[in-house]
Amino acid sequence: MSPVRPTILVTGGAGYIGSHAVLALQQADYEVVVLDNLVYGHQDLVEKVLQVELVVGDTCDRPLLDQLFASRKIAAVMHFAAYAYVGESVTDPAKYYRNNFIGTLTLLEAMLAASVNKFVFSSTCATYGVPKTVPIPEDHPQDPINPYGATKLMIERVLADFDVAYGLKSVCFRYFNAAGADPEGRLGEDHNPETHLIPLVLLAALGKRDSISILGTDYSTPDGTCIRDYIHVADLASAHVLGLEYLLKGGDTNVFNLGNGNGFSVKQVIETAKQVTGREFKVVEAIAALEIRPL
Ligand SMILES: NC(=O)c1ccc[n+]([C@@H]2O[C@H](COP(=O)([O-])OP(=O)(O)OC[C@H]3O[C@@H](n4cnc5c(N)ncnc54)[C@H](O)[C@@H]3O)[C@@H](O)[C@H]2O)c1
Repeated sequence: MSPVRPTILVTGGAGYIGSHAVLALQQADYEVVVLDNLVYGHQDLVEKVLQVELVVGDTCDRPLLDQLFASRKIAAVMHFAAYAYVGESVTDPAKYYRNNFIGTLTLLEAMLAASVNKFVFSSTCATYGVPKTVPIPEDHPQDPINPYGATKLMIERVLADFDVAYGLKSVCFRYFNAAGADPEGRLGEDHNPETHLIPLVLLAALGKRDSISILGTDYSTPDGTCIRDYIHVADLASAHVLGLEYLLKGGDTNVFNLGNGNGFSVKQVIETAKQVTGREFKVVEAIAALEIRPL
């Protein structure tokens, strides 16, 4: 009989990156339970595609969390659940501090009460703010320029303090821009509203959008458009499994950037999409608008 693998709670597992992480956990033989409030997640993805138990609920709901931890032997938590629209975090910061910060604090307190002390956290390059050096090392100063990044930095600080005070061990992954889909096509990116460049470009190539807007052509970059570092979502997912295994083997609290170290401009992404799909679509140069700036 094969040994029973630990059960991992994946919050936000009905979302883009979380669902790919659930798949990677399944492939590594872990038991998984997903907690998602389905505000942005997809129920069918969890129940029909991944065929994993879905608890529909919110990280702010402490009684639900207590019941969830009491009824299962959970070895660790992977925490993807958050709202991640940067522009909205500026216009409605309360929503972000409540959901991302209070929700995570509530989850961490429920974990401590249930003696679960391993935590893998989706942080973000947005905690760095405007980079002083590129590529950005993990010890670069963190000075977020929007409430979304601030909520993630606050959680990183809580995690450092909770290790000292309560022995809670965590791995924080500061991602750059997640991109791509499961190579076998079982999962993909389906945000509504969508703000990420690659899916928007592909929707334009499919004729499902009239055009693609370039938000700003006056950056100090070779072609004047914004350069971002992209990381494939399947690589993100496997990094999470590695982070989990590091903690399960007794690893100490740690922080890692997850990117590929190479930047690509908006114009490069658009041109590549045209070449790969063989489709022409309309490209509009627009003024950068805060509410539709991607992560
Ligand atoms: N997509 C990126 O490029 C990127 C970059 C850096 C960091 N991140 C972080 O990665 C994580 C996942 O991002 P994503 O792109 O998969 O987002 P997503 O919106 O697709 O997934 C987030 C999921 O969390 C759920 N959720 C949100 N708040 C919740 C709550 N309080 N309780 C329960 N469920 C809740 C949503 O319904 C959704 O299914 C987020 O924490 C985000 O901040 C993403």
